[in-house]
Amino acid sequence: MPPLTSRPEWKALAAHHETMRGVHLRELFAKDPQRGERLVAEAAGLYLDYSKQRVTDETLRLLLDLARACGVRARVDAMFAGEKINVTEGRAVLHVALRAPRGTRIVVDGEDVVPGVHAVLDRMAEFAGRVRGGAWTGFTGRPIRNIVNIGIGGSDLGPAMATDALRWYRDPRLTLRFVSNVDGADFVAATHGLDPAETLFIVSSKTFTTIETLTNARTARAWCVRALGDERAVAKHFVAVSTAESEVRKFGIDPANMFPFWDWVGGRYSMWSAIGLSVMLAIGPERFRELLAGAHAMDEHFRATPFERNLPVVLALLGIWYDDFFRAETQAVLPYSHDLGRLPAYLQQLDMESNGKHVDLDGRPVDYQTGPVVWGQPGTNGQHAYFQLLHQGTKLVPCDFIGFLRDLDDVGEHHPLLLANLFAQTEALAFGKTAEQVAAEGVPAFQVPHRTFEGNRPSNTILAERLTPAVLGALVALYEHKVFVQGAIWRVNSFDQWGVELGKALATRIAPELTARDEPRLTHDSSTNALIRRFRRSASA
Ligand code: F6P
Repeated sequence: MPPLTSRPEWKALAAHHETMRGVHLRELFAKDPQRGERLVAEAAGLYLDYSKQRVTDETLRLLLDLARACGVRARVDAMFAGEKINVTEGRAVLHVALRAPRGTRIVVDGEDVVPGVHAVLDRMAEFAGRVRGGAWTGFTGRPIRNIVNIGIGGSDLGPAMATDALRWYRDPRLTLRFVSNVDGADFVAATHGLDPAETLFIVSSKTFTTIETLTNARTARAWCVRALGDERAVAKHFVAVSTAESEVRKFGIDPANMFPFWDWVGGRYSMWSAIGLSVMLAIGPERFRELLAGAHAMDEHFRATPFERNLPVVLALLGIWYDDFFRAETQAVLPYSHDLGRLPAYLQQLDMESNGKHVDLDGRPVDYQTGPVVWGQPGTNGQHAYFQLLHQGTKLVPCDFIGFLRDLDDVGEHHPLLLANLFAQTEALAFGKTAEQVAAEGVPAFQVPHRTFEGNRPSNTILAERLTPAVLGALVALYEHKVFVQGAIWRVNSFDQWGVELGKALATRIAPELTARDEPRLTHDSSTNALIRRFRRSASA
């Protein structure tokens, strides 16, 4: 494979970028009055308007050429076929199998994995039915009213995001809480006001060795046993979700109370597996299956649709256009939906842990930008905080706006106002306001430059009819596949995360140095040594 930046398709894009740098969206729209209806695509209940992007038909053609030249189609086929495309860990990457309908065949190491997926889903459904129906009781015989998921990263962000997003579909009798941070404040806040006799902990960890999760799980066990006065309470108040049965057993949870998944499910791609148990408990098995069906609809669209109409491919290529050619460093995700408040955090892990890589599949350092910094908050709150920079700052920040045509809550005139703000922001970012327009309004001359908006700031608008489980599934799968396509073009392994290891290892070394009774011999750098000593002095004061 030739290095990406020496490919003719890359060079053609670089040359084209020179001609596009100074082109304004005002011009592009003026030249093509149909642009707003032409540069759109639709699939799985999602409508993507990418007309407010700084692209022409030529740009799109060149980007599609790049995708083809980089073998994206073959990579997609390899993923769906269960090939071990996570090369550094020798694993298949099959989150698509988690939402494959019964009867689909996806083979890994000679075994069709789909029946196993459905067997676990059925077990989860049976368990959820018992908990939700009151048949699964706590140690004292009381029904479960509180669910606390303990996990971090992919074992937390997906379920936490989805249970917020699907608030409207949740069983109001169940309280859902999430504990992730090793900061004890998280555990205290999550269990505040909960009755241990009515509380079920789901310890979610792919590896079951993650220090934050095990620390929180031990604290939870002590909290539960202390209140209920009997070690046997653990069997009724703890279930585990993991790929590591022996670790679950070691922790003291009976494997009968464990919901498994598989090493071909990456942590950040796992909310569709048993890691979604808290989501299923919250919204019920049927709604959970709708979530999976929505993701599956996007999978099918991704697998079978020509690239030019393929939502994940189009999103990915636009991202690369800004990331690599305009050198935009970040990507904002702005849901105009309060319930999607945790989506940006979820997408941070999905994108940044997947594509925050500095070497290609062969281990060669890359000489181009890989994954962007992903960030965002729901609208309209962000408008009164950081949108100033988006409109008038010196940085180019491509934005994804996400909204829903219909509201789920009928509380008055909120929804048209919310959508008006979404549409207004994309318009203001794209077209801005010229100095002439500002002056014509009678603005004093000294204020004119301050009140001018240069515009030409690109955004996507993603709309759906309403926020349903199926739409959420499609939306998340859209971003999963976008990240996949970008990783395929950048030739990075989007499925490992070695970058988190060094900090973990050092923390494991430092933790005993903080608590050792005798002064430890510190061999870190002078800064780290001084910080450790400062902690020790404070602890012993
Ligand atoms: O921090 C890295 C990471 O491995 C993530 O990829 C993962 O989602 C998270 O930790 C939690 O891991 P586990 O599910 O094994 O506890």
